[in-house]
Parts: sequence; C-alpha cells; structure tokens
Amino acid sequence: MKARVLSGVQPTGNLHIGNYLGALKNWVKIQHDYESIFCIVDLHAITVFQDPKELRNKIREVAALFIASGIDPKHSSVVVQSAVPAHAELAWMLTCVTPIGWLYRMTQFKAKSALQEGVQETVGDGLLQYPVLMAADILLYQAAIVPVGDDQAQHLELARDIAQRFNSLYGDTFVMPKTSLPSVGARIMGLDEPDKKMSKSATGTGHAVGLLDPIDQVRKKIMRATTDSNPAVDFETMGLGVANLLAIYQAFSGTGDDEMKAKFAGMRYGDLKKTVAGMVIEHLEPLQARYREIVSDPAYLDGILADGAARVSPIANSTVDLVKSRMGLYTS
Ligand code: TYM
Repeated sequence: MKARVLSGVQPTGNLHIGNYLGALKNWVKIQHDYESIFCIVDLHAITVFQDPKELRNKIREVAALFIASGIDPKHSSVVVQSAVPAHAELAWMLTCVTPIGWLYRMTQFKAKSALQEGVQETVGDGLLQYPVLMAADILLYQAAIVPVGDDQAQHLELARDIAQRFNSLYGDTFVMPKTSLPSVGARIMGLDEPDKKMSKSATGTGHAVGLLDPIDQVRKKIMRATTDSNPAVDFETMGLGVANLLAIYQAFSGTGDDEMKAKFAGMRYGDLKKTVAGMVIEHLEPLQARYREIVSDPAYLDGILADGAARVSPIANSTVDLVKSRMGLYTS
C-alpha cells in the first residue's frame, strides 16, 4: 500500500500564487507517488464569520482550482471537509487530549484573535480549536506526508504532539505525519509589503496575485511590486522585495540557483519585473483556461466531490471506530 498524503486549503478570500507555490504545485508534483487526499476545509473557514452564499461558491471555486492546477481527480481524492462528518467527530476526541496551553501558544491564534476587536472573551472558540481540527484532518487518514507552506509548520508540530499524546495515553493508534515544504516558494511575501506573508485576507490591491486575476492585472501588480533603492539585482545586497520576485520566478520555473544568478545578476528592476510577470502569466493563462472549462460543467465538479467523499469515508470511519474503541466509547 502506498503511503498517504493529505493537505487542505480554506475556501476563503482569493487563492493566490503563494497558495499555489507553497502548496498546490507541490501536491501536483507528488500526488501520483502516494495515495493522495486534498481537502477544501470549509469547517476551518467558519472559525471566522463567512457569508453563507459566498462560502458555498468559494467551496466550488477552490475545488475547481485544485483540478485546474493539475490535481488528477481520477487518482487523488478531492474532498469537502464537511461532507465527511468523521473530521468533526475525531476533532472532538482529540480536543479532549489537547492541553489548552498548547493552543494559546499558536502564532496564528495569537494573530487572528488580536485582529478581532474587543475583549478576549468574544473571540470564537473555533479559532482556538482550529489546529485540533487540522490535526484531525491529518490523523483521520493516517497521513504520512503533509505538503504545506511554511506558515502551517507550527500547526503540524502540534498535530504530531497531539498524536503522540494520544498514542501514549491509549496505545499506538496514529501514524506520525511529516511536514513537506517546497525548497523554494514555501513563504511568498506580499508584493506591496515584502516583509509580510502574501495572504488571502489582505485587502491591498497590489498585495497578492490571485490565481484568477485578469492577466493585465497580474502584469500591473508585478510591475508595481515594492523593490529597494538599488537600480539592479545584486544577490549580495538585495532587499526582501527583490528576493521575493526572484523566488516567485524560481518556484514557477524550477530554475536552479546557479542559473538564477547567471540570468538575473545585474538585471535592472524594470526588466526583472517584466521577466517575472512573463513567467507567472505563462503559468496562469493555461490554469485559468482549464478553470473556465471546469466551472462550465457543474455536474463534472459535483461528480468529483461526491466521488472524493465516497472514496475516503471508509478510511475516516474506520479510524473513528478505532479511536472510539481505544478510548472506551460506545461502538455498535
Ligand atoms: P490556507 O488556506 O491558509 O493556505 C493553503 C496553503 O497555502 C499555503 N500558503 C502559502 N505558501 C507560501 N506562501 C504564502 N504566502 C502562503 N500562504 C498560504 C499554506 O501554508 C497552505 O499550505 N490550516 C490550513 C488548511 C488546513 C490544512 C489541514 C492543511 C486545514 N487542515 C490539514 C494541511 C493539512 C490553512 O489555513 O491553509
């Protein structure tokens, strides 16, 4: 039996090239080497309020983007998290073995809860439990490999801690999942503020390149990206903005380090931006064409999502049964 890979994306905001380079591109590359499961994690999305109609649309948009990016639905299961109730069921059982202090320490919880105005008491409990649900997504399928961007590394450490704690309390039950980060592109920064991670929720118009942005906008955003006071690329002294543009080029193209230096050293910033924009557009144009094809046939997408849930449910249910019996819960 092939080892299992699992990863997921929240259906919120607009998926951007950071999500693609940090996660999706890596999924596509390794999917056939493993038994692969890719989730649209709608239960995670509702940890902050979502407009129901918009959420419903986003779930389909993200699923279509998985396929447009190259996920092969004949081989890999594309699953909407809430379509498999075992995710929420296991999350509760894991909540009960997770010390609350572990959750308060999570960087993402601290950042997201600080963004919510008012007193700490009004922050939704879901935000605190978020990484436990994520651990459940992974442990439910006994996934060995979890390909993600750098910002999820802390959540994955926690997933391993939870698995270890469960195993030591109730006996060996869960496979320890490994984090898989891409060598380039694990943390793509905002084009306007290269000291901040490119984010789906950031509002600045020049911040992120969306996978579905009109092509002329993609070019404009990259041409306006923040650089530094040098006139041309200098690998020794370059600032974060230039390093980010180079990382975007390298991650899309797969160019090696030496070749990157030979190609870009001394290149003026105007030409650097044109070259990077060209490389990004070369990838986004066909992706967008495939996306339009997929969404023009709603039954095709429905079939993929129904098939995904049906394929993974037996695995998920058998893990929940095992956990129930380990914990002494009622099993029929
Ligand atoms: P989410 O939806 O924020 O992001 C999806 C994936 O994109 C990566 N990513 C980035 N990579 C590089 N540069 C960036 N600027 C960038 N921004 C985001 C993320 O690391 C992620 O891999 N909690 C997860 C979803 C999740 C999950 C899981 C992931 C739920 N259950 C189980 C793996 C396994 C999240 O919010 O991802």
